[in-house]
Amino acid sequence: MPNSPDTKRQKMTNKLDKYIITVFGASGDLSKKKTFPAIFGLFKQGEISKDECRVVGYARSKMTDEELRDRLKPFLLKQVSKESNGEQVVDDFLANVTYVQGPYDTDEGYKKLGESYKEIEKSLNNGSPVNRLHYLALPPSVFGTVCEQIKNNIYINEDDAKTKIIVEKPFGHDLESSRQLQKELAPLFSEDELYRIDHYLGKEMVKNLLILRFGNILFNSAWNKENIQNIQITFKEPFGTEGRGGYFNDIGIIRDVMQNHLLQVLTLLTMERPVAFDSEAVRDEKVKVLKAIAPIDHNDIIIGQYGASEDGSKPSYLDDETVPEGSKCITFAAMNFQIRNERWDGVPIIMKAGKALDVGKVEIRIQFKPVASGMFDQIPNNELVIRIQPDEAVYLKCNMKTPGLSTSTKITDLNLTYADRYEDFWIPQAYEALIRDALIGDHSNFVRDDELDVSWALFTPLLDYLEGKDAPAPTIYPYGSRGPTELNEYMHKHNYKYMHGDVYQWPIIRPDSD
Ligand code: BG6
Repeated sequence: MPNSPDTKRQKMTNKLDKYIITVFGASGDLSKKKTFPAIFGLFKQGEISKDECRVVGYARSKMTDEELRDRLKPFLLKQVSKESNGEQVVDDFLANVTYVQGPYDTDEGYKKLGESYKEIEKSLNNGSPVNRLHYLALPPSVFGTVCEQIKNNIYINEDDAKTKIIVEKPFGHDLESSRQLQKELAPLFSEDELYRIDHYLGKEMVKNLLILRFGNILFNSAWNKENIQNIQITFKEPFGTEGRGGYFNDIGIIRDVMQNHLLQVLTLLTMERPVAFDSEAVRDEKVKVLKAIAPIDHNDIIIGQYGASEDGSKPSYLDDETVPEGSKCITFAAMNFQIRNERWDGVPIIMKAGKALDVGKVEIRIQFKPVASGMFDQIPNNELVIRIQPDEAVYLKCNMKTPGLSTSTKITDLNLTYADRYEDFWIPQAYEALIRDALIGDHSNFVRDDELDVSWALFTPLLDYLEGKDAPAPTIYPYGSRGPTELNEYMHKHNYKYMHGDVYQWPIIRPDSD
């Protein structure tokens, strides 16, 4: 496959350069649950080794190297529970992890970090400097300070040793705060040195979107308003805020997953073909399609907040002790995106997301237009479903002749369920894939500054309206339900045709086509 994108990317780096990865916020939840396990995942798969890479944790808590390792170990062991030598692999990895304690806002700890880098470089590279990847698993309030300290104390930019910074969302709270954050970071690091993580871009099925679309003439030629009547991007979680309400209350479902994760999915799904597979070409197209999206119509949305479950066993959002009394925070939203370009004009693209719903899943559902009338009375529309999680799959619902003597039709599927098709295949976790991308310098799956700006410009007027003094009250829906009851009518209004009757069931999990 001489021109496959993978071959091209691998050409960028025959072998991984040498690295010190520093995890800032090493004692926090994110790093324990996501960052360190992802680095470990790469180690376990042989993507990084102790001859190439060392890991340093940095935080304010007083801890020894051993104490950090003990803290991390249970989280890493989970990843090797099925392997006979699992604990040994974890110990081998942890032997390369050290800890430096220090404050975020003064030079002192960063100087200690610099000293520890020198020690590491002695054993890793005969004392010559190596690349530094700084992963900021930190609240945004300290991004600016930490970046400034990094720049002043431990920044490196030599031929063979560069600095890279990974930052995590939230990148601001609205357009203004996002620009402010950008203003703080821009003088310190070039766009090339910054990697803004949106972990949805590291998910296997999200990464598959470009190949699925542009690598298949069949899909590519049907991907337009002439053939598609409705698109849905759905995010459902079966749990509520469960004690995280205090944090969630200032954010709400729109900032939590829609402005970032689901919008990324939407752009990859709707952008034009990039001129090449390189990161700038891909991100240029993403920005273009984002700019073609019409302002979100405030009168064409559904907003909800979960109440107690119908049987009373699950609490309402407002029952969460960390939530302020009478909060109007939105835990469910559905909205329509209209893309004003030749490809999409008039096609409703519905994004919907909610907490405390009936199931947990993230999927894209593309409903095609009906076939011409005449030959069939009622024949279901084709639907292409891209299931992002759980159980990655792509299946196409299509009509076939009922086998045997009958000439009647039957809806069936062309089904690519990853677990069946790709047994024993390593599908990296989102964070594993993204940290590897950062190590090899591939920006394709990270958010560029202008992309971020357009996405906030799109959502900020809606958020201002929903959080302003005339904000509408969210509809209360029961914990464990499908969301506000007006959803069916909303989908109907936006051209989605429910196909009850000859109900098709995806073999793994009921498709629950809402
Ligand atoms: C995070 C949100 O960014 O994404 C969480 O803050 C949400 O509220 C999570 O649960 C969803 O990510 P995933 O990978 O579990 O789908």
